[in-house]
Amino acid sequence: MNVKPVTPLAEAVETAMVDALRRALPETGRTEPLVRRSDRADYQANGALPLAKQHGRNPRELGEVVAAAIDAPDLIAAAEVSGPGFINIDLTSEAIWRQVAARLDVDRLGIGLPLAGKRIIVDYSGPNVAKEMHVGHLRTTIIGDALARLAEALGATVIRQNHLGDWGTQFGMLIQYLNEHPEAEWHHADDADPTANVAALDRLYREARTVFDSDPDFKDRARARVVALQSGDEDTRKVWRDLVEVSAEAFDAIYERLGVSLTAADLAGESTYNHLLDDVVAELVDAGIAVESEGALCVFFDDITGPDDNPVPLLLRKADGGYGYAATDLAAIRYRIRDLKADQILYVVDARQALHFKQVFATARRAGWLTDEVEAVHVPFGTVLGPDGKPFKTRSGGTVRLMSLLDEAIAKASDVIAKKNADADPDDLAALAAATGIGAVKYADLSNNRIKDYAFDTDRMVSLTGDTGVYLQYAHTRLSSILRKAGAMTASVDPTAPMSKEERALALHLDAYSATLTEAVGEREPHRLCGYLYALARTFTSFYEANPVLKAQTDQARENRLCLVRLAKDTLAHGLGLLGIASPGSM
Ligand code: ARG
Repeated sequence: MNVKPVTPLAEAVETAMVDALRRALPETGRTEPLVRRSDRADYQANGALPLAKQHGRNPRELGEVVAAAIDAPDLIAAAEVSGPGFINIDLTSEAIWRQVAARLDVDRLGIGLPLAGKRIIVDYSGPNVAKEMHVGHLRTTIIGDALARLAEALGATVIRQNHLGDWGTQFGMLIQYLNEHPEAEWHHADDADPTANVAALDRLYREARTVFDSDPDFKDRARARVVALQSGDEDTRKVWRDLVEVSAEAFDAIYERLGVSLTAADLAGESTYNHLLDDVVAELVDAGIAVESEGALCVFFDDITGPDDNPVPLLLRKADGGYGYAATDLAAIRYRIRDLKADQILYVVDARQALHFKQVFATARRAGWLTDEVEAVHVPFGTVLGPDGKPFKTRSGGTVRLMSLLDEAIAKASDVIAKKNADADPDDLAALAAATGIGAVKYADLSNNRIKDYAFDTDRMVSLTGDTGVYLQYAHTRLSSILRKAGAMTASVDPTAPMSKEERALALHLDAYSATLTEAVGEREPHRLCGYLYALARTFTSFYEANPVLKAQTDQARENRLCLVRLAKDTLAHGLGLLGIASPGSM
């Protein structure tokens, strides 16, 4: 296996430009060549401009000196000063063809492993036990999974943590209610659909809440049940374990349907930290970080304020002695740093929890757990809105079940695919509909700027045209079909071949893949990868319209173009894979 990374051409150009700048201005220190892709040439380097200012030189004149000082004949064919002093750079066709060959020649398309040796925790999904997963859990699950896959692809050791809401006083209430209503049907009502059990539980949970709020006697019995649960009463624990197990089965069914990489091994729910809470809180009290306030235990901050600029404390323990969500997250962060040895912890959680994480991180920093060597980051995201751009509700005003949304997307995708494949085998069609419907949902979510709200419009997301997952999957099938028609021949690149404008654009875009991945991971923004892949599909289309592949005029052109097609197909499939989206070979 050849895993040696291929240096992107943009980086090679940077190196050549650093040399040129140094030759042109020997007295200067570190230089930034500022190389980027350009419409006018292959690349543009803007680095001479700030240097001219700094050294009191005429920028165009300095640009000429720098351009003349470039010494990379195998790489750079032409360098020309333009505008106020930019340098337009064109590469030799040979360097670009060689790059295509180099990427095809190595594993993993030659992308590097910049995150090798890093331990990155991704905290995502985190649904709540005894409740159905609803549309609110979609984004954390999809974005978190893409970030986990991306970091892994760049060499990180990724530890997925599914912080289930599986602990707290609400379970006392629910268990008490179930005890008092043995006739309530919820358990394994339908083996075929594990989400049905949770749907039933969700209903009972709401019933329990109503009784809890209206019947003080039940409230007392529910409180006693909480104590029983927390002190480890075996009968109570048994019901609790059952609730967790049945819920986890339902979550698994959704993860499987969604093609999300979370498994049972990644479950680390709130209950996991229960045995650490006393110790964690004691440590904070001893350090003077947590203080008593009106019977409760809190952390106060000078510089963190909530809505209306009011100072808000972080509540660790309520006056009744119960620990809450915050104490658990503090135990979790200490554990993740001390025991899991995290270098980075990403919390892929709704933007509405921003204040909570600010406070948790600040507390962990004060406690000395979170040091400068560790990066804890809240990766927030916006809300999923209904197709009309308003809050997403069912017709009767309820929350929208995630499973029914996925079913709807798959049904719509199935219509689109069936129209194209009138005589397809029904089983194939069903598999394809699942791949495209789920791909459509994921792509619609990931391609939107993470922090923005977006409207969940199934009709639009399954469209074969435009910036959709289905369009990208279709582009992949077109690439696959060209290669299939070309037969088993293994084409190889002739670097001396001439190069058309479209071949050049496609090859240079393909070469920017690894930089895009680094950027997407660094900014925790999968939509950058989506934008890249969409541009790839379009660049390929322009290429294909102007450059026949199978009917190319010469064997040399045909072979080189087949190599480009293969690299484009592999890159598209790889990128879709990192987004958790399937790449069918035909559709
Ligand atoms: N269960 C929580 C919710 O539904 C999400 C958990 C996020 N992770 C965390 N470490 N707090 O809002």
